[in-house]
Amino acid sequence: RDPHQRYDELCGPGGVAAGAPLFYEMAVKQNSSWRFNGDNAYYPPQPIWGFEGINTPGAVSPGPTIHARYGKPIICRIHNGLPALHTGFGSPEINIHLHNMHTPSASDGFPGDFYSGTVSGPTLSSRGSFRDHFYPNLYAGFDEFGGIGDPREALGSLFYHDHTEGVTAPNVLRGLVGRYNIFDDLDTGDELTGLRLPSGPYDYPLTISDRRFDVNGQLTFNQLDPEGVLGDKIVVNGKIEPVLRVARRKYRFRLLNAGPTRYYELVLQNRSANAIYGFTNIANDGNLLPNPLLHQYNVRMAPAERADIVIDFAKFPLGTELYLVNTLTQTSTRRPDRVQAPGTRILKLVVDRNPPEPDMSRVPSVLRPLRPLPSEAELATLPVRRFNFERSGGMWAINARFFNVFTPDVTVPKGSAEIWEFFNANDGWQHPIHMHFEEGRILSKSVNGTAVPIPPNERGRKDVFNVGENMTVRVLFRFRDFTGKYPMHCHNLTHEDHSMMLRWDIV
Ligand code: C2O
Ligand code: CU
Repeated sequence: RDPHQRYDELCGPGGVAAGAPLFYEMAVKQNSSWRFNGDNAYYPPQPIWGFEGINTPGAVSPGPTIHARYGKPIICRIHNGLPALHTGFGSPEINIHLHNMHTPSASDGFPGDFYSGTVSGPTLSSRGSFRDHFYPNLYAGFDEFGGIGDPREALGSLFYHDHTEGVTAPNVLRGLVGRYNIFDDLDTGDELTGLRLPSGPYDYPLTISDRRFDVNGQLTFNQLDPEGVLGDKIVVNGKIEPVLRVARRKYRFRLLNAGPTRYYELVLQNRSANAIYGFTNIANDGNLLPNPLLHQYNVRMAPAERADIVIDFAKFPLGTELYLVNTLTQTSTRRPDRVQAPGTRILKLVVDRNPPEPDMSRVPSVLRPLRPLPSEAELATLPVRRFNFERSGGMWAINARFFNVFTPDVTVPKGSAEIWEFFNANDGWQHPIHMHFEEGRILSKSVNGTAVPIPPNERGRKDVFNVGENMTVRVLFRFRDFTGKYPMHCHNLTHEDHSMMLRWDIV
């Protein structure tokens, strides 16, 4: 528990479940003999960084998936067990942020809050080799109108990752990422009360991240590239070209683009690469969409975006081999070049059994209804702030300023609503902009002043807003429950590190 904050302050007023938080404990450690592909001698056992559960020895990357429940807060103690002296890239200081959690500031993994046993970041007042993070898993609170009852992080696919100032890209690439899903009765209820989406072993996280390997098959990182990092191999759940055996039934896959820079467009392809199959898109990074998007043939993800898709394998005969394929090529760190056939296979799926029990899961036509947006007249009363994502003196900046942990660039009153305009006038780059603490609703998108449609999977709530070239994205936020300091930044991890990030405070 953070000694500087009282528990009732951490919980915030009203709408928060009473009761003692669950206590979780993990350690960030080096695993010295990770295999990126156990069948391929090209990739020797090598050191990675990961998370070790107290009851599950051996650090893994992605870290243990945490299953949380609405109304049941969690305190997660994270020890820094990295060797003080290590070889290769990454910093021995760590700082863990839970992406899209509505977290009190002291637990949010603010970039200046990094720690090891011996070093602590400039925004920490005490030294220590572990930090306690309070995750409220808030259920009810103010919605966009200021009314009560809209759940946050709705049935969410969240993820935790390192957020140390200036070295997030290397620390995440060494392995410091894991998943965190929130459930409630809507998700886990019976046929009367629940959605009955595929659950349990059929609810499967897929964490996707490209990495670069040297001629000896060792993971490498170019600290000096100021624009981004493109890997030559795509790693899924810590493995290169893994195989997943599935039953003939529906699965929910929680896709995450864990970065650092690459964009993906994923399709489900057959073995001879001459057919693709449809799936249902049920969630984006702000989680469940109001209605499922049926008959989708591809899904695009910017860095840090998530997409939950349901694939029904019942239609495939036993023995069918399928591939999840990335059809975007990317030769520059600026943006994906084009859609390319047949693409890069990143995961092999083998339909190898009938399900042991009938598949009672389904995808209902209504998932999580969205509140209507405020009227134009109401929106017109809100303050508007404009943020220009640009290069300044060879570095990445927001409104020509670089990140400074001590100086808020923006101050907003608690409980207020605002419209933030994200604008990108750079020559060729796209910026996936991430807002901590609050999900937003996209109000409009325009390119060179001309309105462009908001894609259906961006019409829910979101925490990542991909801002394309010459694009303005207008987003409605309301700042609820807590006060404190939070960052907003580009989630191209290299841009974030150098220093396309700002501090905003709720007061
Ligand atoms: Cu996913 Cu500021 O982070
Ligand atoms: Cu960027």
